[in-house]
Amino acid sequence: MAISIKVNGNTHSIDVDGDTPLLWVLRDVLGMTGTKFGCGMALCGACTVHLDGVAIRSCITPVESIGDSAVTTIEAIGATAAGAKIQQAWLDREVPQCGYCQSGQIMSASALLASKSHPTDTDIDDAMSGNICRCGTYVRIREAIKQAANG
Ligand code: FES
Ligand code: FES
Repeated sequence: MAISIKVNGNTHSIDVDGDTPLLWVLRDVLGMTGTKFGCGMALCGACTVHLDGVAIRSCITPVESIGDSAVTTIEAIGATAAGAKIQQAWLDREVPQCGYCQSGQIMSASALLASKSHPTDTDIDDAMSGNICRCGTYVRIREAIKQAANG
């Protein structure tokens, strides 16, 4: 089935079943492997992307449900004001350890900062609680979000 989706400002025509998860389309069809597979059940946050600026789990998002909405992935988040601040803060604070969860963390943090320029601890908890890090980088993630908010 031919489906048209807009990813990082580019429109792609793809031939997949409509119920194919967006994550599979990004990685296997479009070759954009920055977005990671963790659980496949909306439990870990590794697959987080933005849909019209809102953080969503691409592993449970059927590609046919996207319609005309704009998908943004880790490959392009640095082109947004909030994403650029978050990525710089991640570098300054040396947030990642193994790195596997970090594209999802950055996407959730960028969506938070874009919607709230000075998030409270509660805002950070609410926005980030669904992003799991097996390396335990949570303290640095919180520090980096605060640095980005103050930058
Ligand atoms: S892979 Fe999507 S939430 Fe875990
Ligand atoms: S940095 Fe290793 S899982 Fe988060």
